[in-house]
Amino acid sequence: MRATDIILKKKYGEELTAEEIRFIVWGCVSGEVPDYQLAALLMAICFQGMTREETVELTLAMEHSGEVVDLSAIPGIKVDKHSTGGVGDTTTLILAPLVAACGVPVAKMSGRGLGHTGGTLDKLESAKGVRVDLDIETFIKTVKETGIAVIGQSQNLVPADKILYSLRDVTGTVDSVPLIASSIMSKKLAAGSDAIVLDVKTGSGAFMKNPKQALELARLMVDIGDCAGRSTHALITDMSQPLGHAVGNALELREAILALRGEIPEDSNLMKVTFALGERMLMLGGAAKTAQEARTLLLNAKNSGAGLNKLRQLLIALDGDGRCCDAPDELLTAKLTLPFVAKQGGYIDSMDTLLIGEASLLLGAGRSKKTDSIDPAVGIVFGVQLGDRVEEGSAIATVYSNDEAKAQAAMQLLENAITIAKEPPKALPPLIYGSAE
Ligand code: URA
Ligand code: CA
Repeated sequence: MRATDIILKKKYGEELTAEEIRFIVWGCVSGEVPDYQLAALLMAICFQGMTREETVELTLAMEHSGEVVDLSAIPGIKVDKHSTGGVGDTTTLILAPLVAACGVPVAKMSGRGLGHTGGTLDKLESAKGVRVDLDIETFIKTVKETGIAVIGQSQNLVPADKILYSLRDVTGTVDSVPLIASSIMSKKLAAGSDAIVLDVKTGSGAFMKNPKQALELARLMVDIGDCAGRSTHALITDMSQPLGHAVGNALELREAILALRGEIPEDSNLMKVTFALGERMLMLGGAAKTAQEARTLLLNAKNSGAGLNKLRQLLIALDGDGRCCDAPDELLTAKLTLPFVAKQGGYIDSMDTLLIGEASLLLGAGRSKKTDSIDPAVGIVFGVQLGDRVEEGSAIATVYSNDEAKAQAAMQLLENAITIAKEPPKALPPLIYGSAE
């Protein structure tokens, strides 16, 4: 078999066989297929697409390109949750403890933030002492004992994706539905859970700018999961404004704690998405038969404090200090807190989450490159959402910074990110566009 023939075949729009796809993935990891051929094939895939069968084969070959995690020592149905990347999206830190408190084991492999989106590991590490580099045995033992643990993605998980993703990043080939689906799902499958709930974002800060594309991606990922024998459900949710109020690591951990303490209204966007995803996790995990039953369990876990207690246990299991669960304001440690005010009165008409994520990155909350370090304390807390009335000079957000110049630069970006109109917006985007299962 020759890589050139496979590239030509895809270039002419033909379907690749499972053997050809495996040849490429193995060749990618072994180095036998050089980067320039991989890059050419990726571009051909961008133009010609892939069939469902090809995408499933690609995902499975990628999954098995490195280590796969065996969670079978943990009793029960392990349910994973994945978001395709949001801004101000701290659902995992609310959801994982609530679901664990309802008796469904959460053995979660999480990522770090990159670019304008945040990552669960960074948010957890903003609690004093937390380390996310557990070895796999300790990780499994922790889930068995407490029902919950979070671990960083191991170095050898889906090495093919590391190579392909870094090539996609520099060759303009990120935005292909089959390539995104196989990249995400190969990592989810290799992480070993029995069932998967996906939160596919759509809007300014998401990979999928429109709901139609997001639904296509969601359907494809659900099909891949099902073909691999893992029950998979997906929700398509809005990312045309930050999901919660907070953007930034310690700020988002604090928001999750407030949510678990019952201090965030149940009809907020953050809680609505959290509960909708949680319902599916409990149903897939076998803890509830209906969405209604699942919701009751989740509400009980929140109201009784059992969810908060699980988060505390998680932080302690990660060598961290669980006291922030009782004093969340201790997480507010930035030196400067500056109001970002409305330049005119009117209604919040748009919030560009990509720019908001970039403003937070500028403050030091995120990474431009994988090797950048982050400042856990900094970020932005919004006091408004789309459609809200604001008066001239009133605060729209608070900027938390450790550097005056960075704060000013971030405010400049916020100026462009948020538009205020004289009239209220005609319609607000739906929070949940649909689902795939
Ligand atoms: N996230 C991933 O892990 N891979 C993609 O291709 C896109 C988003
Ligand atoms: Ca299904």
